Amino acid sequence: MGSGDSYRPTGLVRILVTGGRGQLGHALSGVAHAPGRGELNITDHASIAAALERHDPEVVINAAAYTDVDGAESDEAGARAINTDGAGSLAVACRDRGIRLIHISTDYVFSGEVPGGGDPATAPALQPDDPAAPRTAYGRTKLAGEQSVLSAHPEATIVRTAWLYTGPNREKIDLAGSDFVATMVRLERERDQLTVVDDQWGSPTSTQALAGGLLEMLAAEKAGRVDTRGLTLHAAGGGRATWCELAREAFRRYGADPDRIRPCSSSEFPRPAPRPTFSVLSDASWRAAGLAPLPDWRADLSAAIAEHAHRARGGRDR
Ligand SMILES: NC(=O)c1ccc[n+]([C@@H]2O[C@H](COP(=O)([O-])OP(=O)(O)OC[C@H]3O[C@@H](n4cnc5c(N)ncnc54)[C@H](OP(=O)(O)O)[C@@H]3O)[C@@H](O)[C@H]2O)c1
Repeated sequence: MGSGDSYRPTGLVRILVTGGRGQLGHALSGVAHAPGRGELNITDHASIAAALERHDPEVVINAAAYTDVDGAESDEAGARAINTDGAGSLAVACRDRGIRLIHISTDYVFSGEVPGGGDPATAPALQPDDPAAPRTAYGRTKLAGEQSVLSAHPEATIVRTAWLYTGPNREKIDLAGSDFVATMVRLERERDQLTVVDDQWGSPTSTQALAGGLLEMLAAEKAGRVDTRGLTLHAAGGGRATWCELAREAFRRYGADPDRIRPCSSSEFPRPAPRPTFSVLSDASWRAAGLAPLPDWRADLSAAIAEHAHRARGGRDR
């Protein structure tokens, strides 16, 4: 067996996270082994087997994914290889070794339409058993991934999340790429005025909050207080927002004038992959499983930006 005793003492369980160089993988890297694709490639059976042997985990969290939503429109096979087939291969390997698997999925499994065609500001948030009907290649490959995980490993848990961001601290922790909140803070420094879509509703979720929720889930399971095996759950920031509201709130928390952001409609920003009008995720399934809901998105946003804003101003408010 591998070096299971090299895990950091978390009081939890031995966790191996795939996609360790990504946002969620990085957020979990303090309490888990979180190798990047070079060490653990979920499309490569031998790589999966070697990593499971080396790290001897009790739990695997699959945070690896093809997340380029627009890119997937012209490369659905590439997205499927990772999001569907890679997830399925990992599930088979975990099942065969008796390893618990938490598979991370997405709000993009839904159609993106407002339920009942109502007002997105008040429409009921989406539940795990609401019908899935993805409109994008990314969403199709992620939904098929959920299905291949559960058919290979019926005791796996699917955790869908949404609108994940790390924020401006990405720079500090040397995380590649960007996310919406980090981009808004960067643009605050570069532009006087911004235009942001105000007709798409979702659940902004900080990677720290999601990582904390997943760890709480595993700790509660270890203590025998909850059992989420075989379930599909939603875990996302509380409340709801449009991208414009999120951007304005980010500006506000950063000490910038939110009125520098002009709301616009999606038709002003056509993208290769259609974006959901409505993908607000309900926390009811998470609570019903006996878990504390993730904080309201506004509270989390403060935590993600406050430290950076303070540093950016040399400790002075402006
Ligand atoms: N970002 C969001 O807004 C969002 C919303 C809802 C759900 N999710 C889901 O949440 C999970 C985590 O997302 P995230 O934002 O942390 O994604 P991310 O930052 O894009 O990270 C994904 C990671 O997966 C890695 N990866 C890709 N193919 C791989 C493979 N074959 N084997 C191993 N690793 C591979 C990537 O490595 P490279 O750097 O080498 O490409 C990347 O580091 C994903 O399941 C995603 O679908 C994300």
